[in-house]
Amino acid sequence: MADSVDAVIVGGTVVTDSWSGAATVVVKDGRVAALLGPDEGTDHLEPGRVIDATGRLILPGGVDPHCHLAIPLGAFLTLDSFESASLAALAGGTTTIVDFAIPVPGEDPVAALDKKIELAAESRCDYAFHACLNAPPADVGATIAAFAERGVRTIKLFTTYRGELMVDIPTIESVMVALKTVSGLAYIHAEENSAIEEAQGAAAADGRIDARGMAASRPVSAEEDAVSQVLGAAERAGAPVYFVHQSVSSAVNLVDDARRRGVAAYSETCPHYLVLDDSCYEGEHPERYVCCPPIRQRTAADALGDSLRQGFVHTIGSDHCCYSAGQKTQCAHDVRLMPNGLPGVETRLPIVWSEFVDTGLLSPQAFVKVMSANPARLNGLYPRKGTIAPGSDADLVIFDPHATRVLRTDDLHMETDYTPYELR
Ligand code: URP
Ligand code: ZN
Ligand code: ZN
Repeated sequence: MADSVDAVIVGGTVVTDSWSGAATVVVKDGRVAALLGPDEGTDHLEPGRVIDATGRLILPGGVDPHCHLAIPLGAFLTLDSFESASLAALAGGTTTIVDFAIPVPGEDPVAALDKKIELAAESRCDYAFHACLNAPPADVGATIAAFAERGVRTIKLFTTYRGELMVDIPTIESVMVALKTVSGLAYIHAEENSAIEEAQGAAAADGRIDARGMAASRPVSAEEDAVSQVLGAAERAGAPVYFVHQSVSSAVNLVDDARRRGVAAYSETCPHYLVLDDSCYEGEHPERYVCCPPIRQRTAADALGDSLRQGFVHTIGSDHCCYSAGQKTQCAHDVRLMPNGLPGVETRLPIVWSEFVDTGLLSPQAFVKVMSANPARLNGLYPRKGTIAPGSDADLVIFDPHATRVLRTDDLHMETDYTPYELR
């Protein structure tokens, strides 16, 4: 008797981070049931659907390790819900999003996580969470155990944003030590805050604290300094560490140096640090590019691209933070008051494919590694997510590598009314 399955996908080329080749993908009960050689028959199957992927690549769905959804950050509320952001993610080839449960000052971080878990019920794609500690908890072990009970073993800690999110290095180190009990991982936003406050003070005194002065207000040295300090904490704690949104190759190199010393350290960057450069702060709408760390010089973006190409960057996250052009304009006279971050959950895959794979700088397998496989591994989701193998979720992107499209805000699904990548 024929085996009844959901679908067979024929004629395509499967790409994972470890192999690539022609294969028929058999899907049953939402999972990959089998991969068949291109010449193997499917007569023994009774598929609900036959999908012709001739000339197409079949990629594991993107796993975006860095999203901020439906969250007040400072005085501004991001625009999208889990429903709208997840639909935008899917439209851009991302099938799993990892959101941050960031408490407002004084809020219990476990309650903040519970609130996010409730909001995410409306998500149309799969999701996971990072918890966040914005103050030293009274009982760090109990707090981490409460996160772990909810399936969350990654915690974001910030070395910047005084009064809202910032914690000190001893706190980071104590959290790293406690995380070891649950095989967890600290996610670090590394920018040394006093250097930033100094740069911002000088900029304000000079009348350059508006969005045009963004790059100078958060210097590269502040990022490098914080990365070094946090790596020291990880080394003392004997704990792994993941640096979010690294904007320069010098910061990535510090991570790589630590890895050579035996520290399990990881680098994430974002499409905007690879593709854009600080000339965006000289254009008509500098405020639309205000994010932390800021967009760096062209030479820095190119060097970061080299780090990616050489395999020193482990993941690419969107750092999706969905504000409208109007919200970005509101405080553009003073970057200290502005909502930080760029929309990008939908454009993460297409931008990196277009600028790195299409141009021959990155192989399709290396693309899958940073977009899907490694984010899944570092969030405890692999091999259910991040690969195409018997037993993995059938989160599949059937992708035409030869199709071209012009990126236009009007065609995107995110709740914002601009994209940093549209040339106007
Ligand atoms: O500018 C940024 N990155 N905004 C989002 C919050 C964060 O620091 O990740
Ligand atoms: Zn951050
Ligand atoms: Zn972020």
